[in-house]
Amino acid sequence: MDDRNGWGRERPAPTGLPRNPPTSFVEQANVTNERIHEEFDEPASWERAADLLAWDEPYDTVLEDEEAPFYRWFTGGTLNASFNCLDRHIEAGRKTHTAIRWEGKRGERETYTYQDLFVEVNELAAALRDLGVGEDDVVTIYLPMIPELPIAMLACARIGAPHSVVFAGLSAEALATRMDAAESEYLLTCDGYYRRGDAFNQKSKVDNACIALDHDVQTIVVDRLGDDLPHVLGDGERDYHDLREEFSGETVDPVARDAEDMLFLMYTSGTTGEPKGVVHSTGGYLAHVAWTSHAVLDVKPEDTYWCAADIGWITGHSYIVYGPLALGTTTVMYEGTPDYPDRARLWEIVDRNAVDVFYTAPTAIRAFMKWGAEYPAKHDLSSLRLLGSVGEPISPRPWDWYHERIGGGECPIVDTWWQTETGAITVSTLPGIDEMKPGSAGPPLPGIDARVVDDSGTEVAPGEAGYLVLARPWPGMARTLYDGDDRFLEEYWTQFSDPETDRWWYFSGDAARIDEDGYITVLGRIDDVINVSGRRLSTMEIESAIAGVDGVAEAAVVGRSSDANGTDVYAYVSTEGHSENGDAIREAIVESVESTIGPIARPAEVIFTPELPKTRSGKIMRRLLAAVANDEELGDTSALRNPEIVGEIQAEIGDEGEANERN
Ligand code: WTA
Repeated sequence: MDDRNGWGRERPAPTGLPRNPPTSFVEQANVTNERIHEEFDEPASWERAADLLAWDEPYDTVLEDEEAPFYRWFTGGTLNASFNCLDRHIEAGRKTHTAIRWEGKRGERETYTYQDLFVEVNELAAALRDLGVGEDDVVTIYLPMIPELPIAMLACARIGAPHSVVFAGLSAEALATRMDAAESEYLLTCDGYYRRGDAFNQKSKVDNACIALDHDVQTIVVDRLGDDLPHVLGDGERDYHDLREEFSGETVDPVARDAEDMLFLMYTSGTTGEPKGVVHSTGGYLAHVAWTSHAVLDVKPEDTYWCAADIGWITGHSYIVYGPLALGTTTVMYEGTPDYPDRARLWEIVDRNAVDVFYTAPTAIRAFMKWGAEYPAKHDLSSLRLLGSVGEPISPRPWDWYHERIGGGECPIVDTWWQTETGAITVSTLPGIDEMKPGSAGPPLPGIDARVVDDSGTEVAPGEAGYLVLARPWPGMARTLYDGDDRFLEEYWTQFSDPETDRWWYFSGDAARIDEDGYITVLGRIDDVINVSGRRLSTMEIESAIAGVDGVAEAAVVGRSSDANGTDVYAYVSTEGHSENGDAIREAIVESVESTIGPIARPAEVIFTPELPKTRSGKIMRRLLAAVANDEELGDTSALRNPEIVGEIQAEIGDEGEANERN
């Protein structure tokens, strides 16, 4: 038996068998009504989510569906997200309660009470206003995992300015594209940050991005690195700490926002090269994230809760910032990586902070498994009550390992399926009620109508693969794309909807299976999006970065399954003429991908081929290339114009593999 992964001989082999939540958990769960799935049967059932918030004006209609799929939730209601995350907890006498516990990369620690957070958010909100930021002006935030990131989001929310957070690891070009698309004239960023202990310059990326923009930008710079990386402020640039001093002690009344007003936009990869600006509302989004934090993640105000994601992606928006803070809990924010300074780092943080709920991604769990059980075993993890997984399918083996080695066999696991576009969790077990089936996310949440259908929209039989669709609207759903309603309709509402019969089914882009009990197992993306370590990347975006390299004729990018990352980026490239310069081109390709998108999109392999396999009509057969990369059956190749090329590519991959093994 393979013992590397911590499955010692004294342990039973993983079974993947269904499990019921332990009684100790059930007894204290936030949601225990076993009839909730049946009872949650009309839009008005979502009132329980809206009831978790404080409204300035109560809403008069739960759901307006006249202009489907442009649904409107909680209309007539007004509220402010920063008021919901801060003021109301202070008014309830909880100002000294810890809101954020920050763990820095170099072992620094900072604690923000709700009062501390209130003060800093208000000062920044006052400063933003003074700079001219008005309601509905998009503010771009390009910050790593430092407290100023959620502070900036809440300051924007306070004055009704939608934020657009760009993941700090994305390139200057990616930042410029997003700022340009959102016509964003304000930017919050920092001088740099530490990467594995070294100072890394973020500001120079910002300078390059701003040069590329046609409009002027006012920038606020957080000095994160001090003397480790001195920087000079240029025209239109202000220092964050100076501004805070200037506006010290000032408060700003939270702006009452319409429930349907935009809280933020978040760019994500789509099926074309252009990222999509997903628009989220204030009322429906906040209600849905608060409700799922309560019902699925079982968050309680007295908990210490830790979602180990990055706020630069949707998971961090919904489940590090808005959900937990709306519920008034303590949210842990971790700046570093799981293996620095050592592989026990996360467990040391759980132990020291007595973390109650821990939420992470399968890619991290697979890494923990590979490193071995001795790291978590060094620490007391008995404070944990619930574990969560998000971002990719989690197969039974890592599920069992997580359950045993991190949860001590006593914590339920919620495997939560959702997307940037759904805003909040839509498929998951309810931890105090539903049986868990390792490898399957679970049934749709109450009120969510998730189905697995074939091409014609007919539900497939249990066990068969099909497309995952959502057949009923939900409060956290994206309202549109910033790029326009047409693209929104085209991306999500054409495949399985039928305007003639007013049938509006949202297409997720994922394939799935459903079992007799209605449990959904997500199989992965079926469009041109790949999921690398839980991060969404568009193969077309990577291809266009590669195609821009001198000497490259054509490129096709596919995903190859990988134990470590879920999927790796695999690039097939044909070069112009007979290039002898493979290594240099390979280097230039990697460089181009990193500078146009970011290091996260770096190809794991670049395979050179004289030609790409094409159909007679000239379309690159990516399906075939994916099959080759994954060493799978090739299926029908009769449509190919150049079938001989497939064998050549296979031989090339074989050589590469051998070369890699030798190295
Ligand atoms: C995948 C992240 C299987 C899926 C919240 C989806 C999952 C994409 C799961 C969205 C899960 C997310 N099981 N696959 N529990 N959760 N996915 O927009 O392919 O970054 O379409 O949102 O991640 O990625 P996004």
